[in-house]
Amino acid sequence: MKIFNFSFLVLLYCYLTSSGATGKNLCTSANFQTVGRVVHGEARGESFTGQLAVAYTIVNRVNHGGYPNTLNKVVYQRYSGGYQYNTLSEPRHDRAWATSKANNDSTYRRAILAAKDALCGYRSDPTGCATDYCAYDPCSATRSNRYWDVYNKRKIGNHWFVCRSPK
Ligand SMILES: *[C@@H]1O[C@H](CO)[C@@H](O)[C@H](O)[C@H]1NC(C)=O
Repeated sequence: MKIFNFSFLVLLYCYLTSSGATGKNLCTSANFQTVGRVVHGEARGESFTGQLAVAYTIVNRVNHGGYPNTLNKVVYQRYSGGYQYNTLSEPRHDRAWATSKANNDSTYRRAILAAKDALCGYRSDPTGCATDYCAYDPCSATRSNRYWDVYNKRKIGNHWFVCRSPK
């Protein structure tokens, strides 16, 4: 039996996940580094909006009931194949980040800015509420399964983003 219709759930979930950016004091320079590293590795070639969207998936996960509820636990969450954010399993991405940071180059500054804008809520979430994305579609992360319905799917640059609600 379906009690709520789809658009109600969309609104409910966007409401539940929208309070987040500042609600848990995510706006810290330590977090800019943690999230900047993910943005740099996952979305270095994307537009600023695409980078902001990746950063927001971390904020949205922290504020979503289906994921860990601290920033570090979300970023470093593992599954059988490695880290949820695959770039963290790539030593060469760590080296690229270290080099960009040491040089304070434009890819470093842009990744930090995207992280800061999402963590502090300085710019709004271009995905609405996405917790997941994939570089192709369909992929397991962007499909409904026995646990989740996905909604609000949208493409930004090379990434497909989705929001998730529990079944
Ligand atoms: C990095 O470069 C930016 C822009 O040129 C500058 O504002 C900032 O102070 C630099 N940061 C460091 C640590 O040098």
